[in-house]
Amino acid sequence: MEEILRIKYSAELSEACLLPFYDKSKDFQYINFKLNNCNCSWEEVITFVNIGLHNEFYTNVQSVPNPFCMCVLVNKYNQLPSTYIPGDLEVIDHRFNSSNLLLRHVAREAFEVMCRAAEEQGYHLEAISTFRSYTYQNEVYYRKMTPEISLDVYQKERDRVSARAGHSEHQTGLAVDINDLEKTFEDTPEGRWLAKNAYRYGYILRYPKGEEPITGYDYEPWHFRYLGLEMAEAVSQSNLTYDEFYVRYLSYTKPTLINN
Ligand code: DAL
Ligand code: ZN
Repeated sequence: MEEILRIKYSAELSEACLLPFYDKSKDFQYINFKLNNCNCSWEEVITFVNIGLHNEFYTNVQSVPNPFCMCVLVNKYNQLPSTYIPGDLEVIDHRFNSSNLLLRHVAREAFEVMCRAAEEQGYHLEAISTFRSYTYQNEVYYRKMTPEISLDVYQKERDRVSARAGHSEHQTGLAVDINDLEKTFEDTPEGRWLAKNAYRYGYILRYPKGEEPITGYDYEPWHFRYLGLEMAEAVSQSNLTYDEFYVRYLSYTKPTLINN
């Protein structure tokens, strides 16, 4: 039976290979993934395999070649160098955070524009976590560890909500947690305003509800990622996670086009 399905899927794949993000070297993985996930369309199969989802999270990890690129993809398969600290970090206006938090220049400017626009409409936004170094992310990741818990058990739970060092978007200086680290934030006026408007200021909701199998993280209504106006609007309109958007539209683009 499996052999028959393999032959059928091979034939189907030869049509799906017209998709621009299809990668011939991954045919074997595409077909295996389809065998295990027959309800996925070929577009989804190719997208998911290109993200790396046919492998366990934190396996087959690649070093990101472009840490300073505005569109850099950082996730459980793509790791930043441990020494990476962006060179253009700036302190956010004290009206929008209380403790000298840092974002990269463009992300800081856009964040302040967004906060001022929100303020004019009666909403108060405040950054509560922004740039985090590799060392600090390591502390954050392990801060709930106790001697009674085994590392395996700890990682299983912690991986859903916190990135391992090198795998956090916060290390890019392009991510900001806003107001409140509770899921109920989505039902507050500020949470609703952000979900609807952040893209107009160049930010996207990076870990949407129900997308944990793709992003690797539980819903985070407070975590926003700067991508620039054009890209944020395109991602927002696509209704895809950034992981999906990246492999469909950016990963095969010439580096010169995405190295802004
Ligand atoms: N909470 C997000 C996923 C992070 O740790 O970067
Ligand atoms: Zn965050």
